[in-house]
Amino acid sequence: MELFNSVESNVKSYCRTFPEVFHKAKGAKLFNESGEEYIDFFAGAGALNYGHNNGYIKERLINYIQSDAITHGLDMYTKAKREFIQKFVDSILTPRDLNYKLQFCGPTGTNAVEAALKLARKVKKRTNIFSFMGAFHGMSMGSLAATSGIGSRQGAGVPLDNVTFIPYPVGCMGNIDTIQYIETILTDDHSGIEKPAAIIVETTQAEGGINVTSVEWLRSLSELCNKHDILLICDDIQVGCGRTGEFFSFERAGIVPDMVVLSKSISGYGLPMSLLLLKPELDIWTPGEHNGTFRGNQMAFVAATAALEYRENTNMDKGTKEREEFIKNFLNERIKPLHKDFDIRGIGMIWGIDFSLLGGEKSSKEIVTRCFDNNLIIERAGREDVVVKIMPPLNIEMDVLEEGCKILEKSIIEFLSNSEYGIAIESKIEETV
Ligand SMILES: Cc1ncc(COP(=O)(O)O)c(C=O)c1O
Repeated sequence: MELFNSVESNVKSYCRTFPEVFHKAKGAKLFNESGEEYIDFFAGAGALNYGHNNGYIKERLINYIQSDAITHGLDMYTKAKREFIQKFVDSILTPRDLNYKLQFCGPTGTNAVEAALKLARKVKKRTNIFSFMGAFHGMSMGSLAATSGIGSRQGAGVPLDNVTFIPYPVGCMGNIDTIQYIETILTDDHSGIEKPAAIIVETTQAEGGINVTSVEWLRSLSELCNKHDILLICDDIQVGCGRTGEFFSFERAGIVPDMVVLSKSISGYGLPMSLLLLKPELDIWTPGEHNGTFRGNQMAFVAATAALEYRENTNMDKGTKEREEFIKNFLNERIKPLHKDFDIRGIGMIWGIDFSLLGGEKSSKEIVTRCFDNNLIIERAGREDVVVKIMPPLNIEMDVLEEGCKILEKSIIEFLSNSEYGIAIESKIEETV
């Protein structure tokens, strides 16, 4: 640990919450150097929806590497890229009647957001973008300008302009109808706010604290964009790729965004890949206008193709729904009764327990630390990190999911029992883990 602390930059963060040296990982489990096991309720911040070292995907990768197939190919045509594009069209776009072109960006999520914002401004010849309070879209300058957290924004060192933040309909100033608010901005010639090229939205804010929008709100947002000639960009980097129960998080609303950004779990194996989906009529890029050396990692293409097959072979969305039911019931039946002030919310396999009314940041931090001491990896989100975020791999085995939930319950009971907040019911810790 000493080497990391003395040589690695202070900017490191997750390792501070999980101070262990990890070495191996399989499925929903991580192992430290001494072989001690940890259940993973964080899934690489959403990059490991199919679990660590997924066997199906791994085999494809090993075969690919052993055959001396091309590893780095810039954005040249390759067999691996063709196979991924074909699979993505056949199993994701065509069945949903979606007509998008694919732009491979390099290599992390923020780059696809950059591409989407650049393209929207270029198409609409407007500079402003609307984003939402509580939004997280990445850390490079353009994306950071659309990210609301002051802590993140402070790192920029220059003004982050040309983005207007709109209150999100949930988790922000109570639950208010922000569509009417946007409508007013757009129609009042004294609103003082420039009409945007695009509105960028997460259908469920993940880093923002697990705030789930309603289907009605999403539909109204889409209609508003159409009405005012504004592009709708859906950032599905964290809650896409099946996290909410369907491949795209916006499917539940039946809307079709003009652009969609994907990354994290699109490669299926934790390999860097980032993808912008754009309606064909928006594709006014000139060649190389958004460039980069690592656009299209060949191994990520291979893994991503295998991941889409794995989704189909294992009937993934059905499995996610079953696990969603389990998590929802566990949280409502076992955690919620522990204290009247818990706010529990989520969708699919992303859930949050909000500690705002129970000591906030200090308490959520203590829970996460206790969980780690009890061998569960779980992170926090939201304003001042008050929300404990449950985000296991989508294919986590049911018994491991139950074990992880029980560790969480045990850690919360330990916390409440030793806190000023008290505990609502006499829970039997022995019974849990
Ligand atoms: C919704 C969303 N957008 C964008 C990003 C940025 O992705 P990356 O960290 O890969 O640049 C993230 C990362 O957490 C995210 O959750």
